[in-house]
Amino acid sequence: MDVIQVSAPAKIILFGEHSVVYGHPAIAIPVSDIRAYTELQIDNKIQHPTIYLKDYGKQFYYHDKVSPEEINHIIHAFDCVQSKTGIMIPQNGWQLKIWSEIPIARGMGSSAAVSVALLKVMLQFLKINLAQSEFIDLSYELEKFHHGRPSGIDNTVISLEKPIFFQKEKEIQYIEPAKFYFVIGDTGIGKKTSQVVNEVANRYTENSDMYGKIFKSIGDIAVHGLDVLQSGDTQRLGELMNENQSLLSEIGVSSPELDNLINVARKNGAIGAKLCGAGKGGCMVALVNSKQEGEFVSNKLIEGGAKRSFLTVLKSGK
Ligand code: MEV
Repeated sequence: MDVIQVSAPAKIILFGEHSVVYGHPAIAIPVSDIRAYTELQIDNKIQHPTIYLKDYGKQFYYHDKVSPEEINHIIHAFDCVQSKTGIMIPQNGWQLKIWSEIPIARGMGSSAAVSVALLKVMLQFLKINLAQSEFIDLSYELEKFHHGRPSGIDNTVISLEKPIFFQKEKEIQYIEPAKFYFVIGDTGIGKKTSQVVNEVANRYTENSDMYGKIFKSIGDIAVHGLDVLQSGDTQRLGELMNENQSLLSEIGVSSPELDNLINVARKNGAIGAKLCGAGKGGCMVALVNSKQEGEFVSNKLIEGGAKRSFLTVLKSGK
């Protein structure tokens, strides 16, 4: 029996969530210590391939005529791989296991990470080598299944596993950052990205002047953020995060729970803090000076109501 096991990282958006959907630049970084995994066992004796969702303790038969909602995205991924490559996934001889350490619906890219890990395992199984840009295009197709109008930043940063400066329909720019320490705090509140993105879209339609200006300002912050990440100015990076958070509050995507954790982080020494991802729940990210400060802020976040907190280091070559 052969086994292929692959994985994909979580991500956070440092600058530019929401405005990136409207074509403004944004910055995202991978969180490599937190990952989604797929494992394919290949064995000729397997007559009825199964898909095992380990986190839910649920197993499904691939051959079932009607696939239950829980595995719709996986069947969709298989369809995308088949239509992109023209190669059919074998009807027997394999079983698939999927699990993830990434909190679901918390702005850390759990769905994109599962999609990328799925693509990697299926392409390896079918012995297909796609060019990087083709792989990203395919991961974007899968991302569209999860939410209707993705900018493409999540699947791109997760596919590349590198910090990126991203703007829709422009060439991706890799960032060579100085070393920074971040603490991520999880409010424990799950929120569907599609829902928050749609709510913002509705408000944008009603108030296009104001929203247009805010999106532009957020994009400008991302442009500054790129310089600051590369020059290593921690103070300025924190200020930019705080400015970005104020603008995200103005477009109505913060929440009392996010505001609380952001305040806890700032009061306990974080240089800057903001929500990350779609918002209205999910996670926030705080910038700190060192690992020790990060551990301190991390404990304070838990005391302050965070369900989980993670320390992550951003540095070149990650
Ligand atoms: C989600 O991680 C980021 C959003 O900007 C949506 C997107 O870019 O697709 C809210």
